[in-house]
Amino acid sequence: MADHTVKSKFKELYQAEPLLIHAPGRINLIGEHTDYNNGFVMPAAIHMGVQFAFAKAEKNTSIYSLKYNQSYTPNLANPVKVAQPVWVNYFLGIINQINARGLKLDNFNCVFDGDLPTGAGLSSSAAMECGFVFGLNELFQLGLTQLEMIHIAQWSEHNYAGVKCGIMDQFSSMMGKDKHAFMLDCRSLEFEYLPLDLGDYTLLLCDTNVKHSLSSSEYNTRRKECQQGVTIISHEFAKVKSLRDVTPAMLEACKEKLPAIIYNRCKFVVEENNRVVEASADLKRGDLVAFGKKMYAAHAGLSKLYEVSCAELDYLVELAKAEPEILGARMIGGGFGGCTLNLIHQNSIERFLVSAKAAYYNKFGIEMNSYRVKPGKGTSVVSFG
Ligand code: GLA
Repeated sequence: MADHTVKSKFKELYQAEPLLIHAPGRINLIGEHTDYNNGFVMPAAIHMGVQFAFAKAEKNTSIYSLKYNQSYTPNLANPVKVAQPVWVNYFLGIINQINARGLKLDNFNCVFDGDLPTGAGLSSSAAMECGFVFGLNELFQLGLTQLEMIHIAQWSEHNYAGVKCGIMDQFSSMMGKDKHAFMLDCRSLEFEYLPLDLGDYTLLLCDTNVKHSLSSSEYNTRRKECQQGVTIISHEFAKVKSLRDVTPAMLEACKEKLPAIIYNRCKFVVEENNRVVEASADLKRGDLVAFGKKMYAAHAGLSKLYEVSCAELDYLVELAKAEPEILGARMIGGGFGGCTLNLIHQNSIERFLVSAKAAYYNKFGIEMNSYRVKPGKGTSVVSFG
């Protein structure tokens, strides 16, 4: 387990007993690209994540990445963004925000590593941000609440990583609960844990192993397109402040005024918000068939209306659709690569994987990876028995 590796590396480098933190990645059952539109999402933290070891230090501060075998000494008083190494920027943004709140950091050592595949859309960046701020909060008793840490983590992603993300990833990594997903209202930040009792079904990630370079620029473009939609719709309906406030009828009433692309973007978001609300009712009733259909519908919208899918993701969803034992499948996260999430009968996993991996390789000449994921707990101190 990576926790132990991080711990032993820490002891080797710094001869001290560290504080250990685990920060998970996340999946999202449904509700994609709705978070920055003040809508609903239904994510879950997963058992894979990023592990940290921390201890106070006398003279210097050092952050060591086991994965890259690289260490970095941040300037705690002036943590400006750097060109290299890129990974350190997630942390520098956190330090910036701790300083901005007038809180005091002393020197520390940190070693981190993760078992989350990068670029797979499982929010390794949110896990890095959340684990780091959580660890510093513990180490220096800064008194930050979970919500403050979520906002600090999101700020770092916006300003030091350059992605104007919504709040879903950081919220999931911080607040996840074992065996549960949760439904989050991204406007009020109220949330409800939903037990993930899937019976004979299980959650399987199929990783396209591609990450098209468009992902972060197109992500920011989608945000702007949604905002454009809100501006036009609010001329007709003054109360509309975000796409969350738009009903299907309002959208239809504005159709002529909206450029076709903007209309499509808005239509997806309005429909996706409704799907999340209905899907949470499906889950509470234990109706996985209805839930799975909404996953397929969400993928169709992401691909055709929101245009954040890609040939590789679409292909994996098509393969899933041909399997009666897969109730639903869809891309997760920002899009343009990464994983599909499949709700699959556990007896069919092996067979499906053999045929899907062969078909995917045949079509794209790329290996497909897969991970069975379990919903896990949020960012926390790890204790060893
Ligand atoms: C990325 C962002 C999230 C969210 C998803 C799409 O993961 O970080 O805030 O917008 O894309 O749902």
